[in-house]
Amino acid sequence: MIREVLKMGNPSLLAVAAPVERFATRELDALLADMRDTMAHLDGAGLAAPQIGVGLRVVIFGVKRNPRYPGVEEVPDTVLINPVIEPIPSDMEEGWEGCLSVPGMRGLVPRYSKLRYAGRDERGRPFQRVAEGFHARVVQHECDHLDGILYPMRIRDLRKFGFIDALFPGEEPPPEE
Ligand code: NI
Repeated sequence: MIREVLKMGNPSLLAVAAPVERFATRELDALLADMRDTMAHLDGAGLAAPQIGVGLRVVIFGVKRNPRYPGVEEVPDTVLINPVIEPIPSDMEEGWEGCLSVPGMRGLVPRYSKLRYAGRDERGRPFQRVAEGFHARVVQHECDHLDGILYPMRIRDLRKFGFIDALFPGEEPPPEE
């Protein structure tokens, strides 16, 4: 079921989400189905449960290679629950981000360029991966939602924050997460 995505200003987006304790339940399956439907409907690159008003540490993400987004690498379709991120020493890099909770806008956000992330899949099985570039960016953006952090709170130079049509006239903007 497509759910309403909460918008910045809603206090639920600022709360710290709780860990999932029981896996392979009907409730968790229903939540993930709704998150997938909502993300697909809005053509997003990722979605966190708090964005649909569910205060659990659950994120999904995934990006197919798309000629519309030449700077955006493919990211595997992933369900990541109770995530832990460990940066791998490297430079931070600035990149453009959008968020389904901040529609119509984009901002330039510094992120770790490389990291290891670990967590559980929807059956509760632990896994970990190393990611860099756009994949690492999406993971950091989604996991921030679980701690009540929205990307505008991380922008260093607010001159690099604005409306899509003003920032990217006639171009395809980066995807929303
Ligand atoms: Ni977002």
